[in-house]
Amino acid sequence: MSRPYIICHMVTSIDGKVTGDFLFLPECAKATEIYYRLNREMPSDGFICGRVTMEGSFTGGWYPNLGPYVPVSYEESPKTDYIVDNLSGFYAIAFDTHGKLGWQSNRIVDPDGDPGYDGAQIVEVLSEQVDERYLAYLRSMEIPYIFAGRDAIDVELALSKLNRLLGCHTLLLEGGSIINGAFARADAIDEISLVTAPVVADKDSKPLFMDSVLMDFTLTWAENESGTLISNYKKRDV
Ligand SMILES: NC(=O)c1ccc[n+]([C@@H]2O[C@H](COP(=O)([O-])OP(=O)(O)OC[C@H]3O[C@@H](n4cnc5c(N)ncnc54)[C@H](OP(=O)(O)O)[C@@H]3O)[C@@H](O)[C@H]2O)c1
Repeated sequence: MSRPYIICHMVTSIDGKVTGDFLFLPECAKATEIYYRLNREMPSDGFICGRVTMEGSFTGGWYPNLGPYVPVSYEESPKTDYIVDNLSGFYAIAFDTHGKLGWQSNRIVDPDGDPGYDGAQIVEVLSEQVDERYLAYLRSMEIPYIFAGRDAIDVELALSKLNRLLGCHTLLLEGGSIINGAFARADAIDEISLVTAPVVADKDSKPLFMDSVLMDFTLTWAENESGTLISNYKKRDV
């Protein structure tokens, strides 16, 4: 199955953590700035995030009242994907197993207007467990959705559909830890782009890949920018 080339792009601490208080330390500000710059500069068809990251960064936990929506019922399984006509070629792709994300627009509205995020067309990747009224809500917003598994999201199936239905060739995987781990276990990470802040995280922080597996990469370049390490790795057999 053809799938997009996946670049996992993340800010880490020295000890390879990606969540927690270290991200808000002044010593991490430069890393965050470089991270957003690289996000803008790396050519891609958009970015993928797990449900928790999308909630934290973009929806803020808002959820629509599904009461008035008429369920979109399917006789068949697997259920049919919903693809809109006006595809933009620049996507914010949410891996949202149960349809928990409430969007108030079908494009990302970045508070800072960062062109690396602002205006990205939202795409929902779902399992078939989703509330069928949520599908009606997505349709009312003209938000395309793709089914990629009955009970859980099958990463390989999701990526093959993103390639075939939306024409995605390169996507940035931008966390968090849980979704990165799912991609690692699906052997779906081709490149890793790290911006490492000169701090060590506390015990509650999560690793770059939750429940990781062995993977083999080659360091392709590294650079010290004002005390922040930028490094890039490619999978050995790519
Ligand atoms: N350092 C960085 O560069 C960076 C970048 C992004 C995010 N972050 C941080 O990461 C944190 C969030 O990360 P997180 O690890 O808690 O969550 P996450 O990876 O953002 O989201 C995990 C969720 O994605 C959904 N999901 C969809 N398909 C899945 C699959 N195949 N396997 C597993 N989960 C799937 C599940 O949602 P359901 O629970 O609804 O089933 C799961 O709980 C935030 O604190 C954020 O600040 C850091």
